[in-house]
Formats: sequence, structure tokens, C-alpha cells
Amino acid sequence: MSFLDDLQTLRTEALAAFGAAKDAAALEQARIRFLGAKGSLKAFAKRMKEVPPAEKPQAGKQLNEASAELEAAFAAAQAACGKPAAASGPKLDVTEPLPPEQRPEIGRRHPLTRTVDRLRELLGALGFEVVEGPEVEDERHNFDDLNIPADHPSRDSFDTFFLDGSRALLRSQTSTVQVRVMESRKPPLRVIAPGRVYRPDKIDATHASTFHQIEGLYVDRGVSMADLRGTLQLFVEGLFGAGTRVRFRPSFFPFTEPSAEMDASCPACGGSGCNVCKGTGWVELGGCGMVDPNVFLAVNRARGDNAYDPEVWTGFAFGFGIERMAMRRHGIDDLRLFLENDLRFLRQV
Ligand code: DAH
Repeated sequence: MSFLDDLQTLRTEALAAFGAAKDAAALEQARIRFLGAKGSLKAFAKRMKEVPPAEKPQAGKQLNEASAELEAAFAAAQAACGKPAAASGPKLDVTEPLPPEQRPEIGRRHPLTRTVDRLRELLGALGFEVVEGPEVEDERHNFDDLNIPADHPSRDSFDTFFLDGSRALLRSQTSTVQVRVMESRKPPLRVIAPGRVYRPDKIDATHASTFHQIEGLYVDRGVSMADLRGTLQLFVEGLFGAGTRVRFRPSFFPFTEPSAEMDASCPACGGSGCNVCKGTGWVELGGCGMVDPNVFLAVNRARGDNAYDPEVWTGFAFGFGIERMAMRRHGIDDLRLFLENDLRFLRQV
């Protein structure tokens, strides 16, 4: 039998089968047999090789016509059956959840990133803009222009990582960004600088040689300690919940005058005393104060102008440890957990 005769036979059989199918299941059977991936029509296409070259154009044309005709006949039969063929296939409910072992693993942000995001949100709502500074710094930005004298113990190599063979260092505080942003912009400004800092501390449950701080700086006419206190009050309530209280303890930092250590009432016990706050009712978040006029003067020297005239401008600054805040928020008792990338920990918080 020739290719064309066989094709004709196939056509007749297929049309008859589609016409005779009484329901969707029977029609699906016929479809698989004649039009399926391993069906008769596909097999025919392979036989094109046998067709003598002279007859190939004609055979190809007939094959295409047969294919179109059978597809159309199948579609018509399907419409007559009233149901799409797929309905007779395997049942798949795409809204049903997968069994746990087949579910794709969903990633999540690191608890430190989540804390930083929350800080940006809270302080952003108060008008603070996020700025950044380099992690490899010089002594001028990390110390000198922050009014830290040449003989200050924090400049010792026990307290700061100096890079070999140069006076460059890894910044030990985000306060560097205060100087950098004032060098490049005129007042007024209201910025926060979250970022990584480095200190050669021995690693334990509350210390690491790499950790994170968030620096805040607000410079304008007439900024006062009351603005600082009010801002931080809103900030701790946003972070730990309504009713959280702020406490200032007198302190000293070379770049602020007056300076304070800032505590929040313990988010775990509300202030009555527990193991998180070691019975004191308060947790320490970091330092703050009014920008020391000497910092403004140093910035003016670097800028070569008097943009930060201490007679005109005042400002407040604060610097808090981000790990510390994340630990309080999530009830984490060991800082090393942030660094170890242990998925059992990261999946929980
Ligand atoms: N830089 C200080 C530190 O790392 C923290 C700090 C204290 C930042 C007072 C400030 C500030 O902006 O006003 O210990």
C-alpha cells in the first residue's frame, strides 16, 4: 500500500472513531490513538522518508490537510460531548496545599535585616533619611573630627582594627558617618546610618568583632535635648510596643555634650525585673547627646567654610547597637547566633 492510500485509510478510521465516541472518555481514547504524541498521525509523519522525492510535496500537503481535518473533527466531537478532554484526565486540584516534604523552601530575611528594616521604617516616618559611609575609614573620620583626642584609649590597637602598614582602619563606630554627611551637605539635615562596625573584642554571648550600629543625626536651628528625648520615646515605642519608657543616664562621649546612655524599659517584663534585664527593669540601647560644637568646627575646617556655625546650628546624635535591639525583640540570648548561619535558628526567629 502506498503512503497516500494508507493516509486515506487513517483519515477514514479517525473520522469514524471521533464520530462514534459517545462520551468524553471514549473521545479521549480516540484522540490518543490518532492524534496523540505516539498516535497514528505522528507515525505517518515519520514515513515521509519512504516517499520518493518526486511525490514528497504532494504527500506533505496531504499529510498537513489530514492533520488539520482530524484536529477539526476532534474539536467538533469534543464540543458535541459537552466536556473538554482534560476533564477526563488525572484530577489535580491546584488550590490544595502540597504535603510538607514537597513544599518548596521559602526564604526569609535575617533577623538583623528585619530589625534594620523596622528601624528605617520607624525613623523614616519621623523624617530621617538613610545614608551610608565606608567601612574602611581613616583616623580623621573615626576619631579626630569626632573630637576624640590623640591619646584616647579607643584609638589603641586593642580597640580598633588598623589595616597593616597604613593608618587606615575598620570603622569602630557608625559615628564616622556623622562627619561624612556634614562634610558633603549643608544643614539642616536629619539622617540615620545603619551599618557594620568592627572591634577586636573577644567573642562571647554579648560581644563580637563584627557587629552593627545605627547612627542618627539631626541638625537644625534650635534642636534641643527635648527633641532628642521625644524622638527616642517614639522610637522605642515603635520598636518594643506602646508604653515602653525611655531613661537617660548621664554619660560621656567626646562628640556629644551633654551625653547620655539611653535605656528602654525592659520589653520582656515591662520594667518589673526579669532575667533579660538582669532584674533591673531596664535594657541599655546605646549612647546619645547634643552634638559637641567641636565636631561642627572640625567639619567646617574640612569643608573650608562656616556652614555649621555652632552659634546658629544645634543638633542631636545617637548610636545604638542593632544586635542588642534584635536580641530584645526576638528574645535571643546569644549574639553568636546571628553570625553562625545555623538554619535551625534562622527558621525560628
Ligand atoms: N559611637 C558610640 C559608640 O560606639 C555610640 C554613640 C554615643 C553614638 C553617643 C552617638 C552618640 O551618636 O551621640 O559607643
